[in-house]
Amino acid sequence: MNRRDFLKTAGSSTIGAGTMLATGGLGFSLGLNQSLAQTATRPLPLIPMMDFLDGINERISLTLQSANHDFGNSGVSQTFGINNDYLGPVIRVKQGQTLPFDVTNNIDDVSTLHWHGLHIPGDVDGGPHQEIRVGETWSPDVPIVQNASMNWFHSHTHGKTSQQTYKGLAGVMLIEDDASLSADLPKTYGLDDFTLILQDKTFNAANEMSYELTGEVFEEGFLGDTMVVNGAIAPVSQSVPKGLVRLRILNACNARFLTLSMSSGPLNVIASDGGFLANTVQADNIVMSPGERYEILVDMGANQTNNLQVTLGGGEGVFGFLGGLFGGGNLTTLLTLNQNGDQGIDATMPDTLANMDIPDPAQATITRSFELNMDGNTDFTALALAWGNICGEGAMGINGQPMNMERIDQKVRKGDTEIWRMTVGEDLHPFHIHGCSFRILSQQGAEPPAYAQGWKDMVHVEDGWSEVLVKFDYEAPEHAPYMYHCHILEHEDCGMMGQFTVT
Ligand code: C2O
Ligand code: CU
Ligand code: CU
Repeated sequence: MNRRDFLKTAGSSTIGAGTMLATGGLGFSLGLNQSLAQTATRPLPLIPMMDFLDGINERISLTLQSANHDFGNSGVSQTFGINNDYLGPVIRVKQGQTLPFDVTNNIDDVSTLHWHGLHIPGDVDGGPHQEIRVGETWSPDVPIVQNASMNWFHSHTHGKTSQQTYKGLAGVMLIEDDASLSADLPKTYGLDDFTLILQDKTFNAANEMSYELTGEVFEEGFLGDTMVVNGAIAPVSQSVPKGLVRLRILNACNARFLTLSMSSGPLNVIASDGGFLANTVQADNIVMSPGERYEILVDMGANQTNNLQVTLGGGEGVFGFLGGLFGGGNLTTLLTLNQNGDQGIDATMPDTLANMDIPDPAQATITRSFELNMDGNTDFTALALAWGNICGEGAMGINGQPMNMERIDQKVRKGDTEIWRMTVGEDLHPFHIHGCSFRILSQQGAEPPAYAQGWKDMVHVEDGWSEVLVKFDYEAPEHAPYMYHCHILEHEDCGMMGQFTVT
């Protein structure tokens, strides 16, 4: 019996015995959160924006800090924030700018801040090699060369990414360009243009956010029972004008896949991780892994109210089973949009959005293979621990090796077009590559859904293989390599990550 099967069996027998439900905080917290969800709809929090569209006059200060935050259940949760008490600001910038950041670490532990999705050199990427010690300031000048896109930033501290990101070290960066600013699209932040950071949490009996690393959590990744939008427990609601409304959505869960849908009909998807799609894509639902971003347009001309709904995915183990018992797996509302009658943007749903060729695998000169490993043997686990990965009883890795900060796994030549092929025996892993956007050639052995055929930096890998066509335009030297990894943050911390240089 491998470790996975053992945990699955162990998980079910725990539930069979009833111990978790009877004595643990889990059953109580599930019931409590459910009743809260039924009785109260909170307003959608508008995350404070740092807007640099009109220019940058001074260095941009970001402070990682410890704080307390109320998620809307009157509990006082211990959190981290970036300039805020939970999460960071929405930073809005323009293509062509260079962002002079001063990132100060005022939490009680070493940290880093990685710019997920940015096409930038390795030495300003904010990966695990750019540690910011307690009390120190890291001052990267980050050049914004890429097109309009929704990106994000989060802790990437070796072995501690999952804990620090869960506690709140994450935020959104919106890049605009001339085309996006002149497009006939909603773009008034907080009026018809909203950023949604989706996360799953657990709360203890005192209504405080909790996080515990157990063997199961390493195995499945952390799966919370309560959905949170911009730091408020869902469902949340927002009043919007009549017309088109734009939702820019980030799945910032540690491990949870989310299937999103609208109550009124198909979603109109206009952008993915790396920017606009070629055309608006209609989809009944979209499956978002941790780390993915999608932008959608909602037509509030036709409807008085419209709900953004979620079906929770992930975890066939103990948490998935509990989720089924308590209504997980069912459709629940994250956000209700209420049309207030004001006249909003009088645009029609755009058709053509971006020029985008069909990816051509024949351009690739090199193919690299990555096998994601879930079940390391004892030696493997000892190595992982020695190399600073933080795991339960069994380490994870890629191509037979847990992550090692001292080892460069791949060397890429700048400007080469390559095919990266990821394989896995079982389970679903969201794979991410730093320093680029790529195109998905194949996801789980098949053509990706239309909404995932644009620029991406995340691809789903499950029961087989996925392939992406990728090119790196910036350098990452040996002292500041890029990372590739599973974006289930507990898997990443447990060693399912590797490093590469681009020269
Ligand atoms: Cu979202 Cu390596 O990160
Ligand atoms: Cu990244
Ligand atoms: Cu994984």
